[in-house]
Amino acid sequence: MKTQMRNLTLLLFLLLLFLLCSSVLSWKKEEFRNCNQTPFCKRARARNPGSCSLSARDIRIENGDLKAKLLPREDHQNPDQVHSKPLILSLSVNGDGILRLKIDEDPNSDPPKKRFEVPDVIVEEFDRKKLWLQRHSTEVDSSSSSKSSVVFLSDGYEAVLRHDPFEVYVREKGGKRVISLNSHGLFDFEQLKVKKQDDNGDDEDWEEKFRGHTDTRPFGSQSISFDVSFYGADFVYGIPEHATSLALKPTRGPGVEESEPYRLFNLDVFEYVHESPFGLYGSIPFMISHGKSRGTSGFFWLNSAEMQIDVLGAGWDAESGISLPSSQSRIDTFWMSEAGVVDAFFFIGPGPKDVARQYTSVTGMPSLPQLFATAYHQCRWNYRDEEDVENVDSKFDEHDIPYDVLWLDIDHTDGKRYFTWDRVLFPHPEEMQRKLSAKGRHMVTIVDPHIKRDDSYFLHKEASQKGYYVKDANGNVYDGWCWPGSSSYPDMLNPEIRSWWAEKFSFENYVGSTPSLYIWNDMNEPSVFNGPEVTMPRDALHHGGVEHREVHNAYGYYFHMATSDGLVKRGDGNDRPFVLSRAVFAGSQRIGAVWTGDNTAEWEHLRVSVPMILSLGLTGMSFSGADVGGFFGNPETELLVRWYQIGAFYPFFRAHAHHDTKRREPWLFGMALKYGVGCAAGVQLMSFTFITQVLVIMQNLERNTELIRDAIRMRYMLLPYFYTLFREANTTGVPVARPLWMEFPSDEATFINDEAFMVGNSLLVQGIYSERAKHVSVYLPGKESWYDLRTGAVYKGGMTHKLEVTEETVPAFQRAGTIIPRKDRFRRSSTQMVNDPYTLVIALNSSQKAEGELYIDDGRSFAFTKGAYIHRRFVFTDGKLMSLNLATSALGGAQFSSECVIERIILLGHSAVPKIALIEPDDKTAEIELGPLFLKSRRGNDFLTIRRPNLPVAGDWTIKIL
Ligand code: NOJ
Repeated sequence: MKTQMRNLTLLLFLLLLFLLCSSVLSWKKEEFRNCNQTPFCKRARARNPGSCSLSARDIRIENGDLKAKLLPREDHQNPDQVHSKPLILSLSVNGDGILRLKIDEDPNSDPPKKRFEVPDVIVEEFDRKKLWLQRHSTEVDSSSSSKSSVVFLSDGYEAVLRHDPFEVYVREKGGKRVISLNSHGLFDFEQLKVKKQDDNGDDEDWEEKFRGHTDTRPFGSQSISFDVSFYGADFVYGIPEHATSLALKPTRGPGVEESEPYRLFNLDVFEYVHESPFGLYGSIPFMISHGKSRGTSGFFWLNSAEMQIDVLGAGWDAESGISLPSSQSRIDTFWMSEAGVVDAFFFIGPGPKDVARQYTSVTGMPSLPQLFATAYHQCRWNYRDEEDVENVDSKFDEHDIPYDVLWLDIDHTDGKRYFTWDRVLFPHPEEMQRKLSAKGRHMVTIVDPHIKRDDSYFLHKEASQKGYYVKDANGNVYDGWCWPGSSSYPDMLNPEIRSWWAEKFSFENYVGSTPSLYIWNDMNEPSVFNGPEVTMPRDALHHGGVEHREVHNAYGYYFHMATSDGLVKRGDGNDRPFVLSRAVFAGSQRIGAVWTGDNTAEWEHLRVSVPMILSLGLTGMSFSGADVGGFFGNPETELLVRWYQIGAFYPFFRAHAHHDTKRREPWLFGMALKYGVGCAAGVQLMSFTFITQVLVIMQNLERNTELIRDAIRMRYMLLPYFYTLFREANTTGVPVARPLWMEFPSDEATFINDEAFMVGNSLLVQGIYSERAKHVSVYLPGKESWYDLRTGAVYKGGMTHKLEVTEETVPAFQRAGTIIPRKDRFRRSSTQMVNDPYTLVIALNSSQKAEGELYIDDGRSFAFTKGAYIHRRFVFTDGKLMSLNLATSALGGAQFSSECVIERIILLGHSAVPKIALIEPDDKTAEIELGPLFLKSRRGNDFLTIRRPNLPVAGDWTIKIL
């Protein structure tokens, strides 16, 4: 009986423990609002197609734009008794076929205040490319007798404003539609109001309560919603950040399991789930459509208020009686925002890379990171003290693993006061950084936006005195709870406050910082532990009377911008900044890198990291990554190794872990097992079995470290290729990591593939997302072959291969017809590889041709913007390899030179067996031998290798294979 009782108590205890753990470890859904709990979303979703009665009139060209007034139809019929305030619509056209649509309240009808338009996102060059429209033509639709005004958009495209009901669309000159807005009559625009004494309108208009928080709404409801249709589209993509598939699934429609709309509201979501349209840390309101028949188009709504977007399944509008004049496949979407104005951009493509270029011509090109930032980063919450830092740093060397950056999380500060150090744990920060710097390494420290409300803290004192904090709805300084406890938040919308913030990064102000220190901006959604939905109340007030609801999604963007400006300003202003941010908004690509926040050490989180990174890349944010290993939880060995193997191909490659997790630096993983066995030692007293077990485990540990080392080294070998791709992103907007369909736009088999991705145009990487996988199916697109990156084995394109999975690597392939530059010597860090020679890997296609590029600059300064760089194109054709100059010398006369040479050229797929290579113009020769694909390869075939041709990387030359 006693034993039974004991067992029962134990069981109850275990159950309680389980419940406690699971409640701590799961996403607290109820802390966040769903659409039904969000009045503007609920109202908008309840509207029926055709309910918009606005029509356009007073149509004219003004200041080079097509302008119109939008008024309800009944006002038109009775123009003398107009009872609605009009909206003002303007259509403008920019070079490269971009149509911009703005709709706002009429300033002449005395709105209570100017609605918020998001500043500092659109780049100046874009406005300079405006085409001044001279005229519009009017046409009448014979079937409906409705009139439209038509303006020129670009060769082959026109923009159309249908008058009644109003609709805006882009079409090909032949008539085929590309994108349209309000074709289903769902447009709605709630104008600002001021509450009158006797106003007995809907209470929700003026106040809303959620989990004990009250949102006052001094201007009533101010939401905007409308439908957008994409023609010739098979799928839509983009609108990050969500942990979900790359191709966006419909959220409602016949046969669709109704879900929440995709939410764009920057939130700090504890333990997010891996398959959800729920809003995470960032918001980029840019959607891309792609289809076999038309190609690619895009729609971007520059609006920083909460947004919700439905993807509507085919047939959702069957009962509406609205039929769109198109025989092409179409995807309809529905966009809802809580505030702001309509400032929308239509991109015509027609290819995926065209859309990338068009979008980044509006919001800016991704900045070019310093070389070190493209290498491997080692992070953990937290490296405890200087000794810990030194130890971790030296272990990398001991284990021959390269790394470039060591990160310090919040606990390095004096009580979470950013820009300070815990002087007990970090008494010599400069010396610590200098030691790292001596090995070519860098350090990153965290600086969050919540400022501890402590009168003795210089930053708080200054911000308070200057009135630089965000205010609450009553005009008092807003006080929220975050890591330091009671905190306030600088109003980053104000440019003056941004420059004040930037000054804090000068070496004099940030005591203990040195030129090799860079910054991490976390919690900048902003995260407020005791705020509604863990963020700032919507009625908090910013500069110029802007309500937080209007600017919420861009708060973190302005914070990131101010920090990055600070790093540029310190020193001589010629050092490219590196700032990692958790919050992201349209335009963040100009500022720095982002990561996908607090993921979990689970296979499904590894899987979803790929579509998350691809979606960010498609929407301009090329420099992104996920925490390698998963932030929460302890990954089992295999998961960690697989994560490193794929993480080595993320544009941003950083391992990170929560402080509650076991240490997992590359040489440690599995140590827990070893310790477990150590405890068992007492019991087993060094039996023979025990010793064998220990030996096996030790071997495994070494093997794990070796596998991780290999993955990291692969990244280092490929750094010249990655850096060239970062430069490509910087000049074209095309992301480093791309969905397969970006390279193979007409191959339908790639449209929903988000388990594999392209790194540039030459590499395809397939993740392994399950435990103990024995086989994996890999689809290799295109007509040409693919070469296994490690073994050089050839695989046919245009088919799915069932491949055996090895523990050594995730499958990765070089596309036939490409040339990849590598650096094969292993050093401690990327900066120590600068003078190392290059290897070119030429993967020949069926016509025995290949092409590739190499971009090099000083890897750190802005001199490249003045022309100080080397950019080569390598072309292999007719048995010879040529190096051609791609650099434009006229930029500003700056020079960059390099003494580096090409020391090896590997030829994959060469049909003959040549003996000698002749180098022109010097008439020298180089030997051709059979050699391994990797200098230290353990296995695999030998390939034609031109050894030591020692060609100058900066020069023009030809090398003939004889
Ligand atoms: C939340 C971040 O997402 C995580 O990466 C960081 O370690 C913690 N904040 C502590 O700063």
